[in-house]
Amino acid sequence: MSPRALETLPVEGARVLLRLDLNTPLSGRRVADATRIDAALPTIRHLQERGARVVICSHLGRPKGQKMRELSLEPVASVLAERLESEVMFAHDTVGDDVEYLTKEVPQGGVLVLENLRFHPGEKANDPDFAGRLARLGDVYVNDAFGALHRSHASVTGVVEHFKQAGVGLLVQRELEALSKLVTSPDRPYVGILGGAKVSDKIDVIESLMHRVDALIIGGAMAYTFLAAKGVEIGDSLVEENKLRLARRLMDRCAERGVKVFLPVDHVVAAAPDAEPVVSDSIGEGLKGFDIGPETVSAYAAVIARASTIFWNGPMGMFEKEPFSGGTRGVAEAVAAASAYTVVGGGDSAAAIHHFELADRISHISTGGGASLQYIEGKELPGLVALARRGA
Ligand code: 3PG
Repeated sequence: MSPRALETLPVEGARVLLRLDLNTPLSGRRVADATRIDAALPTIRHLQERGARVVICSHLGRPKGQKMRELSLEPVASVLAERLESEVMFAHDTVGDDVEYLTKEVPQGGVLVLENLRFHPGEKANDPDFAGRLARLGDVYVNDAFGALHRSHASVTGVVEHFKQAGVGLLVQRELEALSKLVTSPDRPYVGILGGAKVSDKIDVIESLMHRVDALIIGGAMAYTFLAAKGVEIGDSLVEENKLRLARRLMDRCAERGVKVFLPVDHVVAAAPDAEPVVSDSIGEGLKGFDIGPETVSAYAAVIARASTIFWNGPMGMFEKEPFSGGTRGVAEAVAAASAYTVVGGGDSAAAIHHFELADRISHISTGGGASLQYIEGKELPGLVALARRGA
């Protein structure tokens, strides 16, 4: 059974408890990137147009059950007000009598943002009492927090059983539609591009992707663990020594399945991130690789150009530093130029695509990091399971 869609829920005049993922990067007390706020706007506007009283809840960062001024959702509420060009009320707590009172003050079409859910330990613990208190803040529940659907937290799963009327918002629907194309019969060749620092973070993804893709392109610091596992000299580059055997096994299993694994053949190396970089096809002692080199970019771009489906997660190097941004930029440009169906998931690679101003040339950029990976691995997302159980 699938979760109900927002359009089928009786939201007219109702207080709608809307779970969003407004976990946005901050610079001090300012929102540094409003992508997730913008992604939530269609559902908020839909609810406003239907005369709902919108009560928004979200987490921000990982405050570990403590109130932290620097992780208040207040700056996010201000950006939301700018985007909606209307007043947005703000509750300085998440649950309680005062907040419940405020939810009843929200006019039809009005918006109230609650304080950070994770200021309460009950959120992460999926505490039934906290879930019950949250549920008192709405008559209808809508989850549009795609990026948090993989968390079994009170506002994502526990709260659902308290609502007769519950379903998913427009962003979740759009994400599922886009990502499901990768899970059910993707056009071939299907190429997975994985980057980032750690093999350990990506083991599950690699294991699941090797059953789905025709080729795997590997970049980022984790490539050095794979190269070391093949016996390639990698100087002082970052290596997870305890993952070498696993990396070897993963490559063997890919070979058995006929999945081609592409590793860097040249690198941008330096003694340290601030030292003078050079391009080299070997990494000598005392040097570290911080990005894939131009020859690697060309080889990867050729594989990408032949693909019909592409999933990319994780940058190719330390792209936030200009001398080491060439690899990620090259791959981003190749993905943007491809005629394939292209999906980019995960915070860093999505940030890279925006940074290089290529977003409008990608079929789908997921707002979820862990959630999108879990979904394309074919795993269940607890938030969806809870809503599906609630039924149509
Ligand atoms: C994310 O940024 O991936 C989501 O907001 C989930 O955040 P979390 O990893 O802190 O649960």
